[in-house]
Amino acid sequence: MRVVVTGAAGFIGSHVADALSGAGHEVLAVDAPARSLAPAVARRAWAEVAARPGVAAAEIDLAVDALDAVAAADVVVHLAGRPGVRDSWGPGRAVAERDNVTATRRLLAACARARRRPKVVIASSSSVYGSARRRPNREGDPLNPASPYAVSKVEVERLGRLAADDGLRVVLLRYFSVYGPRQRPDMAFHRFVEAALDGRPLPVFGDGLRSRSFTHVRDVVTATLAAAAADLPPGIAVNVGHPDHVAVRDAIAMLTDALGVRPEIQRAAPVAGDATRTWADIARARDLLGWTPSIGLRDGLEDQISWHRALRTTAEVRVG
Ligand SMILES: NC(=O)c1ccc[n+]([C@@H]2O[C@H](COP(=O)([O-])OP(=O)(O)OC[C@H]3O[C@@H](n4cnc5c(N)ncnc54)[C@H](O)[C@@H]3O)[C@@H](O)[C@H]2O)c1
Repeated sequence: MRVVVTGAAGFIGSHVADALSGAGHEVLAVDAPARSLAPAVARRAWAEVAARPGVAAAEIDLAVDALDAVAAADVVVHLAGRPGVRDSWGPGRAVAERDNVTATRRLLAACARARRRPKVVIASSSSVYGSARRRPNREGDPLNPASPYAVSKVEVERLGRLAADDGLRVVLLRYFSVYGPRQRPDMAFHRFVEAALDGRPLPVFGDGLRSRSFTHVRDVVTATLAAAAADLPPGIAVNVGHPDHVAVRDAIAMLTDALGVRPEIQRAAPVAGDATRTWADIARARDLLGWTPSIGLRDGLEDQISWHRALRTTAEVRVG
């Protein structure tokens, strides 16, 4: 199968590209590393993805460049975009609009024009729900986006459903707080582990009582590949999240136990628009994709910590 992965220099995209090429598919990796929240990290990851056997790489800005090559595939896994609630306020609003909404609109238009229309798997986000209350969020729940980022993902989904009405096979995956090796440097566990390894206080937004359906990137990859292979109703949304929600405070306790440290906590004001709780109902993913996550938070955190440690060793070897 010929698969295009957009956002392939990114956290989730690099893992998806690795898994697809590992499974023997022909992969075209697409990214514009300068558009990343962390361009230096994306540039390094881009060089690694492009060097992988079975992967061709094309630097393409989805918001402005020609997209015919991106649409020439059996499947397009669209993971490129500007993630993050915190950075979407102020000037970030226009960036989220450009790299999430405009990029997706152009990509869908190119796929609709293609001689052989590809299937399109699109990354959405649990943030479209706002905060979960007494029960986990199901896909049919009303959407309640509370930040420019979440609003941009609601619009991405709307564009996806419109394209599906027009006959394109589109699947919308609502990812919940993804973590694991190569996690983005702006994300909580990445910041916590780096601070703890440096001996600095852990920078925590809010009181630590917010809870999340933390989901390991390997489980996210499994769900994404299953969605790419499955024959699903066009335009359907599917939650991809761990069914347990864990308070940030408890996740920090697991993390510091695993690291064997007791760092200070440095509290900052909660981030505007951040959900108090995200909580995934995964009945649909189980029924349609045969997917349930297999990695619990304790094991998953150890995996991420090992990656941070290995990164430091490699950096020391390079410097030494
Ligand atoms: N990481 C999570 O917890 C999470 C949760 C929910 C949804 N998502 C969504 O999943 C997707 C991947 O997230 P991630 O954490 O891997 O983010 P990431 O920032 O690591 O990866 C996104 C990649 O997209 C690229 N990109 C941005 N704008 C582009 C453009 N105009 N043209 C081409 N490439 C462009 C960036 O350079 C970057 O490499 C995003 O759509 C994000 O909103 C992520």
